[in-house]
This record gives sequence, structure tokens and C-alpha cells, in this order.
Amino acid sequence: MSRALTFLCEFLRRPTQIGAVAPSSQALAREMVEQAKVREAEVIVEFGAGTGVMTKEIERCRSANSHFFSIEQNPTLVEILRQELPQVDLCCQSAADLPQLLRERQLTKVQAIVSGLPWAAFPDKLQDELLQPAVDSLVTGGRFVTFAYLQGLLLPSGRHFAHKIGRVFKEVRKSRIIWNNLPPAFVYVCTK
Ligand SMILES: C[S@@+](CC[C@H](N)C(=O)[O-])C[C@H]1O[C@@H](n2cnc3c(N)ncnc32)[C@H](O)[C@@H]1O
Repeated sequence: MSRALTFLCEFLRRPTQIGAVAPSSQALAREMVEQAKVREAEVIVEFGAGTGVMTKEIERCRSANSHFFSIEQNPTLVEILRQELPQVDLCCQSAADLPQLLRERQLTKVQAIVSGLPWAAFPDKLQDELLQPAVDSLVTGGRFVTFAYLQGLLLPSGRHFAHKIGRVFKEVRKSRIIWNNLPPAFVYVCTK
């Protein structure tokens, strides 16, 4: 089965966990990785690998002596990704488990978090349970990047998440719009 079809099937099974009908485009993956400053980061974590478009871009750009692991909670997607990217440290857990996963790897702080989680589809409590460990785990000056679809700005949950990141990070800005994505999206670039 193609990656796009696998993704769509998983969306139909768990719409609020997957939160998108198609994987992100290469253009969006490049923007995310660049905005996260992955090339300079010592420790990089990805949330919600999906079919791995951002995982591959992180692998391509990160420095050889950096540490990288990716957290994806969907077991079907993890199984496929483990076959395709056996070199990547893939954890089939929730992003809320970030502190435990860092301790297991004897890492303390993270410089870059590349999040593919569908925040606007999550209830408020779950947003907090996932966001707080991420903020706590970043170094001061570390970057958390996450994308949002343009139409999400019209949804109360999307606006609510935008206010929330504005409260917890020192600086939040929006990237240019990536039109070459289905649907068009932009990146929230958050600095602790
Ligand atoms: C919108 S998809 C993005 C996939 C990929 N990063 C991309 O951009 O194409 C969101 C992904 O987050 C995963 N996910 C949802 N909740 C999660 C959680 N609490 N922890 C880790 N992954 C989660 C879903 O299973 C899904 O693969």
C-alpha cells in the first residue's frame, strides 16, 4: 500500500489522533526542519512521525554527532517506519512520555522539537498534557516548531492553541505560508 493510502486509512480509523487526510509535503517538512534549526541542535525530538516525511528530512539535515529520536503512538505507522528507517530511534509511545524517554537515553535537555501533532484536534486537557513536558524539556533558547493548516485559524480550537503557545513560550512567530501542501499550512516557530 502507498504511504498516502496507509495514512488515509489510519485517518479514517482514528481521525482525531491523525488529524490530517494526507502526509505533509516535502516543502512543509523542509520549512519545519529549517525553522527548528535542526542542523545546529545536539538533541532533536520529533512528535508524531506519521509516514516519516519530517523524520527523513531531520535525518538528512542533522549533524552526525547529534541525538535524535521520534515519538509516534500509532503502532501501524511505527511498524512501517521501522522497516523503512531502521536506523531511526522510533518510540511507539505518546509525546507526553518525553521526560521518561529522555531519562532512558541519559539525555537531559532538547534543543529542537519538531512536532507533527494535530493540536487543533485535541481537547484542551490533552494539549496541556502534551505541551508542558515539551516546554519543560527544552533548553532556554530551544525551538519548538509545529505546523497548522490555514483553515485551522478559523476554528476555536486552533485559535485556542495559538493563544496557549503565546503564553508558554518567550517568542512565537508564524512562517510564510506553504501553499504546496494539502491543505496549505504555516509553521509556528516557538522559542523558549
Ligand atoms: C497530522 S499527522 C502528521 C504526520 C507527519 N508528521 C506529517 O507531517 O505528515 C499526526 C501524527 O501524530 C500522531 N500522534 C497523535 N497523537 C500523538 C501522541 N500523543 N504522541 C505521539 N504521536 C501522536 C498520529 O498518530 C499521526 O501519525
